[in-house]
Amino acid sequence: MRKSPPLRGTVRISGSKNSVLPILAASLLAEGKSKIGEVPFLKDVVIMQDLLKYFGAEVKWDKVNGFIEICADNINGYEAAYDLASQMRASFLVMGPLLARIGKAKVPLPGGCAIGSRPVDLHLKGFAALGADIKQQNGYVEAYANKLKGAKIYLDFPSVGATENIIMAAVYAEGTTIIENAAVEPEIVDLANYLNGMGADIRGAGTDSIKINGVDKLKGTSHNVIPDRIEAGTFMVAGAITRGEIFLENVVSDHLKPVIAKLKECNVEVTESEKGIKVCGKDVIKAVDIKTLPYPGFPTDMQAPFMSLLSIAEGTSMVIETVFENRFMHVGELKRMGAQIKIESRSAIIEGVKKLTGTQVRATDLRAGASLILSALVAEETTEISDIYHIERGYSEIDKKLIALGADLEKVK
Ligand code: UD1
Repeated sequence: MRKSPPLRGTVRISGSKNSVLPILAASLLAEGKSKIGEVPFLKDVVIMQDLLKYFGAEVKWDKVNGFIEICADNINGYEAAYDLASQMRASFLVMGPLLARIGKAKVPLPGGCAIGSRPVDLHLKGFAALGADIKQQNGYVEAYANKLKGAKIYLDFPSVGATENIIMAAVYAEGTTIIENAAVEPEIVDLANYLNGMGADIRGAGTDSIKINGVDKLKGTSHNVIPDRIEAGTFMVAGAITRGEIFLENVVSDHLKPVIAKLKECNVEVTESEKGIKVCGKDVIKAVDIKTLPYPGFPTDMQAPFMSLLSIAEGTSMVIETVFENRFMHVGELKRMGAQIKIESRSAIIEGVKKLTGTQVRATDLRAGASLILSALVAEETTEISDIYHIERGYSEIDKKLIALGADLEKVK
């Protein structure tokens, strides 16, 4: 990547990665055909598709038109292949649907990853409360239940994945399940809307108390995935950092409130309209403080991309990461490009610099990779980013979208 001119033009945001993955997993629950639209073209979707096929689902992905058709009439597998499931943490989301649909599931225990240890204890506590018998051995989690029974479940932390997995497990449970301190992310609401479209009875998604009345049968339905708020936020930063002018289509500004508020605090002009969001970068970028929190707080997934912007802001910014314990892997790479950042436990103190300089850097995880792309857009000379497969897991055709806005980059095989 070389230093780019101010980015200009319109970009269409793809469907949400974090919505489509649980929605695909939830398709295992229904009989008949489901059609899911606004499916982003991502490596993680390929993995989830392969997992569903492995369990016996018929899956057709029309990549040109961005939809997937699934028929899960004959689900006969219950054991997720290690080679497949271990490639993606979100594979664990098949556990709730399999347990609900066929009463058993065996899935590799997700390992740690670059951003932290990421346990699944809350998922398992939820399944156990519903009456599942859980075993952990040889690196796998096994869960069995003849018939799950509704229960009241309190989550110690509003985990997104645990909330989703427990909702999916509870849809066929006998009686009522209540999840307290549930995650309230828009992706939870999208999943509940999809399941309710299939015939489930889920109320309160989007609040911290979700009630699920068990039903006997779910039937396939059609559903369009919500726009990806993190991809949108990343492109907003791309507009701001290059002092460009970008219009984003297919966005829900309500999902982006904290990102928009912080961009405005940085002196970036953001205009919301019914058609989308316009971002207009100014010469002076002001330093701001950020603390990541569960929704509706500032999203942890936007922390690394935002740090790229703050690294060239006027003044000192502080970023506190409260959601994941080790999510500063991008800092070392940004420092190699000339950023001045100090880490103190879960805080990063960023002294804005006048310029960054390109060099060879490595994407250590998805959002860290996005932050390197953003910094490379304004860095002098050339930046070479390796391990871009991390970025392709979660950003649909980011290279093509950036080039269309005027970025000077090429993907080298
Ligand atoms: C999801 C998103 C991810 C995002 C994260 C937080 C998907 C596919 N991924 O991940 O992009 O960064 O939400 O917004 O949707 N935790 C436990 N025990 C558990 C589960 C979680 O301690 O059983 C902890 C995690 O280690 C982490 C925190 O809770 O520190 C948040 O994790 P969680 O909300 O579960 O994130 P994911 O669903 O994995």
